[in-house]
Amino acid sequence: MKATDLGQLPYMERLIIEGGYPLKGKIDVSGFKNAVLAIIPATLLAGDKCIIENVPLISDVYILKDIMTELGADVELKYNNIMEIDTSKIKECVAPYELAKRLRASYYLIGAALGRFKEAKVSYPGGCDIGTRPIDQHIKGFEALGSEVNIDHGLIKCRADKLEGSKIYLDVVSVGATINIMLAAVLAEGKTIIENAAKEPHIVDTANFLNSMGADVRGAGTDVIRINGVEELHGCTYSVIPDQIEAGTYMVAAAATKGDVIVDNVIPKHLESVTAKLKEIGVEVEEYGESIRVCAKEELKGATIKTLPYPGFPTDLQQPMSVLLSVAEGTSVVTESIFEGRFKYVDEIKRMGANIKVDGRTSVIDGVKSLSGAKISATDLRAGAACIVAGLIANGATEIENVHHIDRGYEKVEQKLINLGAKIRRVKE
Ligand code: EPZ
Repeated sequence: MKATDLGQLPYMERLIIEGGYPLKGKIDVSGFKNAVLAIIPATLLAGDKCIIENVPLISDVYILKDIMTELGADVELKYNNIMEIDTSKIKECVAPYELAKRLRASYYLIGAALGRFKEAKVSYPGGCDIGTRPIDQHIKGFEALGSEVNIDHGLIKCRADKLEGSKIYLDVVSVGATINIMLAAVLAEGKTIIENAAKEPHIVDTANFLNSMGADVRGAGTDVIRINGVEELHGCTYSVIPDQIEAGTYMVAAAATKGDVIVDNVIPKHLESVTAKLKEIGVEVEEYGESIRVCAKEELKGATIKTLPYPGFPTDLQQPMSVLLSVAEGTSVVTESIFEGRFKYVDEIKRMGANIKVDGRTSVIDGVKSLSGAKISATDLRAGAACIVAGLIANGATEIENVHHIDRGYEKVEQKLINLGAKIRRVKE
């Protein structure tokens, strides 16, 4: 199925949830969306065949698969979550506007194409409408490495006679800029140092993938990343880390429904901030080697949350967590320090009886006894996750439209929830 076909289908789909059923059982977490969306473009750097395992079957991956195919790559994505991608036939990178604009991660094609071809023309990135989402730090990095950058008619055009290692201090801790500069620097001449780098697990995963292709990247996961440019890269086989945001979403859903769930195939360390916050509000959380058990029986109490770059509380879980707090005892205060537009879901949850007041980047949540089912709309990916958590705990039926947002980042979402005892079904118009 091509993403363009896919693109037509989900706009007419809705999820209907009968609330009030505690989630119980075990759930397998898929590969990390935000890691694989960097690793797939990174294969451009090798001009060889790569095999990527643990790829989540989500629409953002299908869209990126189509973009890589349009660029000339041979891409096969199988139902066993393995992608085979050969970028040897790609000779230039002009990312198609219609597809590239629908994906934030299309900007990784710039760093990868710049690294391989010293040239790139990629549509301005799209993605969730959660704030302005500038790319000035990406451009700062590309220019520091020796590239000219022009933005013209929505296209970001980069060109360099050669790329030379440089020392780059990020003004803002940016995941995208950190990864994009890594991609552009691995084939540059000399040493690049990225300071004030983001430390998210998917930055480490992308660095490990690059090193599997023969790059020399050290320090990923700290705020100083050192890259020694190499002559060329080669194909490799690599398995993507588990999706800690998907895992965290299901941990929150388990707690909100007063359930008892084992979230399997995770790296517990990646979820430390979430585990700590859930324990603080009264949830029992047990960490095992590659799984986490979440059990909630008691009344949960409110908390204060401030989203921060990793290892702080992740902005991608602010929305589902706020729904959990909307039925916790007492008042909670949530500060969204990363994206200014990440409270759009509040109006939808208020239709279900939540008592939430938003003032700028802060929301004040007064816990209510329960939510009531209603017709609501997913405004972006993680707002969609918040709608699902709300539907799972509400009295009566909740109907969620714009499900395509959710399908961008949650593989087999209704199937995974049905396996935990949720009463959820997808309605296709
Ligand atoms: C990535 O977005 C993720 N997307 C987001 O996940 C995630 O919320 C975000 O990182 C933070 O963890 C992908 O990986 C595809 P940033 P990105 O650059 O790279 C500012 C999801 O739900 N900034 O770390 O766009 C920016 O405005 C998605 O899975 C600049 O000012 O995030 C923001 O305030 C949503 N200039 C802050 O930095 C720049 O050049 C962090 O943004 C770049 C960013």
